[in-house]
Amino acid sequence: MAPPTGPHLSPFRRQSRQEKLYQAKLESLELFVRVIAHDLNGPLTGLNLTLQACKKLAKTAAMHKLLDTMDHDLSSATRLLEELKSLNKREIFRPQPLDISSEIAKLAEQVSATPRLPITIEVSAGAGRLPVAGDLSRLRRAWQNIIRNVIDAAEARGGEKVKLNIFTRRTGNFARIQFADNAGGIARSRVSRVFEPFFTTRGEKNRGLGLFIARKIVGEHAGKIRVVSKKPFTRVTIDLPLMP
Ligand SMILES: Nc1ncnc2c1ncn2[C@@H]1O[C@H](COP(=O)(O)OP(=O)(O)OP(=O)(O)O)[C@@H](O)[C@H]1O
Ligand SMILES: [Mg+2]
Repeated sequence: MAPPTGPHLSPFRRQSRQEKLYQAKLESLELFVRVIAHDLNGPLTGLNLTLQACKKLAKTAAMHKLLDTMDHDLSSATRLLEELKSLNKREIFRPQPLDISSEIAKLAEQVSATPRLPITIEVSAGAGRLPVAGDLSRLRRAWQNIIRNVIDAAEARGGEKVKLNIFTRRTGNFARIQFADNAGGIARSRVSRVFEPFFTTRGEKNRGLGLFIARKIVGEHAGKIRVVSKKPFTRVTIDLPLMP
């Protein structure tokens, strides 16, 4: 029997069909990842080591510039590999007790130390600790993907300084993290698609995996993620269950 369609379809039902689509795409991605991730790891690590050695030997400014460009491209390839590896459901999930407020503060400090960052980050934390059983490296990946998007949007705007406010606080039994930026916003017609794998508006250099992966990681923590946008603002909200 054909699946029901039309306006009578409840949002709940629509959601579950969308979930199935994500699941099917995820499974084919995982197969792809298993085939290539291992083989790519070795050469990329080798290239990176060689590049760092070349940087030590390079004598002229022109050579340094070329090697910096190579470094940038290599980092982008390495990031892609890490993203693909993190799609692999066999990756071990290692939850540990952590305080969301202090982890967010640490990450914001690290990102803020990046040279020539086109955004200013401000963190506001509500009172008290936000204890969550989480896999820190996975959660950091999700948060970094969200921050990366703000950086990408700021770069696309060309130089105009963008602000990212990160709020952490308790709401009911959840630790809430909100990333609010003024980097341009997302068109209303696109906002519902941002969690789809391979959905990107950023052309060749992006893969459209950042929010898909963030959503997967938040889901692994039994949390929720949503995006709202009204130009030029975007707000990404993550709720993670607090430890009892
Ligand atoms: N803070 C933001 N401001 C403006 N647009 C955003 C923001 N966050 C997400 N988007 C939009 O959502 C799309 C999907 O984001 P996602 O992170 O999944 O993929 P991507 O950034 O395009 O690629 P990748 O993360 O794999 O490099 C982006 O292409 C962009 O159009
Ligand atoms: Mg992204």
